[in-house]
Amino acid sequence: MRAPFLIDCDTGIDDAIALSYLACRADVEVAGIVSTGGNVPAATVHRNNLVLTGLLGLEVPVALGADRPLVEPPMFADDTHGPAGLGHAVLPDPVRAEDPRRGAQLWIDLARERPGELTGLVLGPHTNLALALELEPELPRLLRRLHVMGGSIHHRGNTGPTSEWNIAVDPEAAQRVLAAFATAPRRPVLGALQATERIVFSATQLERLEQLAERSPHPVARILADAVRFYFEFHRADGFGWMAHVHDPLVTAHAVTGDFAGTRPLAVDVELAGTLTRGQTVGDELGRWGREPTVDLLAEVRPAEFVEHLLSTLEAGLG
Ligand code: BDR
Ligand code: CA
Repeated sequence: MRAPFLIDCDTGIDDAIALSYLACRADVEVAGIVSTGGNVPAATVHRNNLVLTGLLGLEVPVALGADRPLVEPPMFADDTHGPAGLGHAVLPDPVRAEDPRRGAQLWIDLARERPGELTGLVLGPHTNLALALELEPELPRLLRRLHVMGGSIHHRGNTGPTSEWNIAVDPEAAQRVLAAFATAPRRPVLGALQATERIVFSATQLERLEQLAERSPHPVARILADAVRFYFEFHRADGFGWMAHVHDPLVTAHAVTGDFAGTRPLAVDVELAGTLTRGQTVGDELGRWGREPTVDLLAEVRPAEFVEHLLSTLEAGLG
């Protein structure tokens, strides 16, 4: 029995690692993918997702999302992920056709087809899930559970001084999604920056990816090595040294296995009005809002164990 997942992502270097990881797992069924604009424009994300699903053998619907956030103009992170989203990787042309539905509709259709079964995994901005909620407010009760990479709780931002990328791109969408899923039967799991930044690839992991690309005929092995090398160059230019924070795969692997981190309940909301702090995720540790917890926050990450798990899964699946 494979667990079905819908992945909404802005591929993106670490998104590509997460998709590859999912394709390597025998216990996962990738049921569909929504291409959300974020790291690069939605059309470029979509192309990356169509190419990667083709190369990974994932015969699943890939649906294009909206081309802009709910309120503000789009912004992109080509300094972080490269102009085409996958760093130095050179992609072949896609051979797979896109799904004709819009991204929001794919959320709704897959959730209705399999009520209570589908796990939602958001690895980019929340735009398309927020649009889906407008059309189907029952989504929080139709999904098995929602897992999100986003936000930064009591930690600096990586986009604004206090804001994390996936929330900063579309704060209104993130705020609506968190509010709606606060009523879900199972709280959403939020993997925020203070947890995901514990996952650091060093020269050792880059070398392992490079060795995999050299010995394996699988084209995705070369794509990942060339993409991650660009990610290292960005992190060095940003002052972090020769390394890379690898966010999305931790949230993904935790959603699949329940392993590599614990969780703790917390009421979290998104700052929409702050002149300096728009897009910040605020966690209410002392219950000052008088609200029930809205998320299960990833905590107590086991980075070494996880990094080994991730690399060995990719080596086994793409080797
Ligand atoms: C998040 O932002 C994106 O650039 C990454 O893919 C990840 O989802 C980290 O802040
Ligand atoms: Ca992402």
